[in-house]
Amino acid sequence: MVSIDRARLKSLMEREQQRFVQERPKSNALFERARKSLLGGVPMNWMAKWAGAFPPFVREAQGAEFFDVDGHRYIDFCLGDTGAMTGHSPSGTVSAIEQQIRRGITLMLPSEDAILVGEELQKRFALPYWQFALTATDANRFAIRLARQITDRPKILVFNWCYHGTVDETFITLTDGVAKARRGNIGPPVDPAITTRVVEFNDLDALEQALQAEDVACVLMEPALTNVGIVLPEPGYHQALREITRKYGTLLIIDETHTICAGPGGYTRAENLDPDFLVFGKPIAGGVPGATYGFTEEVAQCIVARQNLEDCDTGGVGGTLAGNALSLAAMRATLQKVLTKDAFDRMIPMAERWSAGVAKAIADFGLPWNVTRLGCRAEYLFSPTTPKNGTQAHDAMDFDLERFMHLYAMNRGILLTPFHNMALMSPVTSKEDIDQHTKVFRDAVKELVA
Ligand SMILES: Cc1ncc(COP(=O)(O)O)c(C=O)c1O
Repeated sequence: MVSIDRARLKSLMEREQQRFVQERPKSNALFERARKSLLGGVPMNWMAKWAGAFPPFVREAQGAEFFDVDGHRYIDFCLGDTGAMTGHSPSGTVSAIEQQIRRGITLMLPSEDAILVGEELQKRFALPYWQFALTATDANRFAIRLARQITDRPKILVFNWCYHGTVDETFITLTDGVAKARRGNIGPPVDPAITTRVVEFNDLDALEQALQAEDVACVLMEPALTNVGIVLPEPGYHQALREITRKYGTLLIIDETHTICAGPGGYTRAENLDPDFLVFGKPIAGGVPGATYGFTEEVAQCIVARQNLEDCDTGGVGGTLAGNALSLAAMRATLQKVLTKDAFDRMIPMAERWSAGVAKAIADFGLPWNVTRLGCRAEYLFSPTTPKNGTQAHDAMDFDLERFMHLYAMNRGILLTPFHNMALMSPVTSKEDIDQHTKVFRDAVKELVA
């Protein structure tokens, strides 16, 4: 198999950086101006991670494409890292937003939309009760708090190299089998090794051992890891995991924020999983901030039994703007009109086409890489085999190579997520978009191995 010549990679990267800067004078000027008022020239720290010398500044986005201020068109496979999986500004959501925005944005009172969304979520995910937050991070935090309250247990369990948003307890990884704060964890309030157990995905023995002491309130998991490349569960894994969590009285929170790519009811409905809580954020409101968490009848009864009306606004589950009228109108329209079964029926074959194109190029050029797909999300990884757990997936990451692939694509009008090599399909992503990616991917690897 072919290996990557690092000197060649470096010189190709330099060439691509020059091209990126030369072709984007307006973004460059905006970035220079931004550096005077925004830390690092960006509104959010991770926006510094884009592979170019500066991020392209966006003029407008629509559907599966956007234009930068220099007039370049990009096919968007990043889609706001799932926040815009609906396609940018989908018309169904936009008309609901336009109507609601003139009738009140945030009230601290419910609107009928809240019920319509709750009813729609019931149908999709087969859980009876729903609450809202503004971000998936918050939805996860609230579910964890409730799980701790219900079980009266202090710890949570997550999987190695998971990501669930900026939830303090989840920034923990295994280093030579020892649980330690994740590299880059900024100012942790307490050492996550105190709050959290961490085990490898697909390792049932490790899970059982970690839960045996009966001090773990909940397992928080993505049903397939999506934030370290894609790691799929082995056959029978979820069923056994559920039996083990029940055996030790640990609640199960399934975070479907990314795995919603598996279908309209996420991986949970596609594979008939049976969680105690389910979290779903990012694209639920078509890009307007909004997230939700649902739970079983049994959990609902436990919450109600412990509820204290006088303190319910300061109990740690909250958010002034959570459940606001605008988010709920956007959620109602997105669920009813945009992220429909028909949309998934179009999106999933697009991801199959993307994966087939990438897999063929990998095979044709003899690269030790592979491609994995989950519903309408696909991803290539710099390893010859598909990873079984977070460690294997993380070990296959190659920051320099990843940045080259991203920058090469960006210079040719294709945007991948800045974090790894993920491509997501929107309901309006076309075959032509996919074929253009395949061509650019082939050209990139051809230059790499030449
Ligand atoms: C699986 C998962 N859950 C939750 C989150 C947090 O979402 P947000 O940053 O919108 O709070 C992320 C973010 O990437 C995620 O990947």
